[in-house]
Amino acid sequence: MKILFLASEVEPLAKTGGLADVAGALPCALHDLGCDVRIGTPFYRHTKETGIPCELFASRIHVQVGRLRLTDDVYQTYLNRKVPVYLFNKEEFFDRNNLYGTVNGDYFDNVERFVYLCRGALELCLASGFVPDIIHCNDWHTALVPVYLKSLYGKSTLFRKTASVLTIHNLAYQGVYPADEYFVTGLPDELFNPRGIEFWGNINFLKGGILFADAVTTVSKQYSKEVQTPEFGFGLDDVLRSRTDNLYGIVNGVDYSVWNPAVDSLIAKRYDESDLSGKAVCKKDLIETLNMDPSFATKPILAMVGRLTDQKGCALLGQIINDLMQMETGFVLLGEGEPRYNQMFGTIRRDPGGGAGIIIGYNNRLAHKIMAGADILLIPSRYEPCGLTQMYALKYGTVPVVRDTGGLSDTVRDFAPDTGKGNGFKFSDYRAASFLARIKDALRHYKNRKTWQKIIRNGMNADFSWKRSAQQYLQVYQKAMENRHGN
Ligand code: ADP
Ligand code: GLC
Repeated sequence: MKILFLASEVEPLAKTGGLADVAGALPCALHDLGCDVRIGTPFYRHTKETGIPCELFASRIHVQVGRLRLTDDVYQTYLNRKVPVYLFNKEEFFDRNNLYGTVNGDYFDNVERFVYLCRGALELCLASGFVPDIIHCNDWHTALVPVYLKSLYGKSTLFRKTASVLTIHNLAYQGVYPADEYFVTGLPDELFNPRGIEFWGNINFLKGGILFADAVTTVSKQYSKEVQTPEFGFGLDDVLRSRTDNLYGIVNGVDYSVWNPAVDSLIAKRYDESDLSGKAVCKKDLIETLNMDPSFATKPILAMVGRLTDQKGCALLGQIINDLMQMETGFVLLGEGEPRYNQMFGTIRRDPGGGAGIIIGYNNRLAHKIMAGADILLIPSRYEPCGLTQMYALKYGTVPVVRDTGGLSDTVRDFAPDTGKGNGFKFSDYRAASFLARIKDALRHYKNRKTWQKIIRNGMNADFSWKRSAQQYLQVYQKAMENRHGN
């Protein structure tokens, strides 16, 4: 099967969140299952700065963006020396400090930038003769490709058999822009209506993808159900319900060659479930790294790693932070996001007791050190399409306390003292009291060394490797191709 996998961020080339982790790992897992899979992504400034070796793949690819006919080259590199990555070079769009915008909001020309990526990918296929069976799009940035395949590019014999799959990683980001930018897409006027990509008078990239893709997936089973409800649907629940027969939930996997304490070169000492002594070394190292008081080596350390946004439950954490600081526990936080949360957590840095280690910013090495050195990872998300950090935490023997939603529901199993089963602690209500109560439950069990070791081992033994999820994607690809051929 030939697959073109399109994503706006791919680890290790560019990353703001979990989408990059998925785009860096799933194609490799598909390759290992025998697929000819290639990735398409922008050639960002940041990607160039990684110094990754690349070569010219196709010169002077023409891409129509609005009234402009733009021309640029496409470069090629490889993931894990096996999966080709096509890098769309358009410096005026991608040679910038950030991927999508600044703290003040989206870049003003995001419609142009991502129309360029979508159409560029299709033009590259036409120019290079690579005919994918499947184009796998991810999130709004690439969601116009399914629309193009059934409109502007539908007549091309090359794409006659090409089916599209759209994966939604986060329904909150839809790519909504004013109607007067519609001409930039080059799409026919008749698609700008409520049954097409029009959305309350605006353009909605993601809506277009949902309606036109041959199959749609979300990144966990639970989230695939939630997005069809008004509470989690972000205004698109009815559109998603209209695709319910072709909507699948496939939980993300973990790249255990990267996130695994037995092989991790970014942590102070490696360890695995048969010998946890390295974890204590990592805890000491974390305390030193963050200049915390050494006495916290014998106290439980609670941590949070992630984007500081409403989605991640920052408001809830904010409500209990003073309680946490008064407990005999350490608190570590690594993240950046909305200015109000950066500020709110930034002030805790001045905690006089030395029990807090707060870093506002992005730091991959520190994320690994925290996974290894902390005892408990807090993920009180308001909603969570999948979530990767809870799965990373499980592998590192760091027990997750999570809100029972989306992918957190699918991957964390509540610890049941009577059976000894379970790998973490869940709470349902989005309420500070419920969150705090569950943290206290976890801390009670932490005191019982034997029970805690059991919970840790249950987590470390869980297997979320990509292979199983990749096999499920293959089944969805098959369905998408059947749908395409039926049309
Ligand atoms: P989301 O994609 O919603 O941000 P996920 O849990 O799926 O959440 O993925 C988050 C990814 O980004 C993980 O790999 C996590 O380690 C990483 N990450 C998030 N914030 C930071 C940060 N401040 N520094 C380093 N890595 C981070
Ligand atoms: C999104 C979601 C997160 C998910 C990630 C990768 O950013 O917020 O829950 O794990 O995409 O699919």
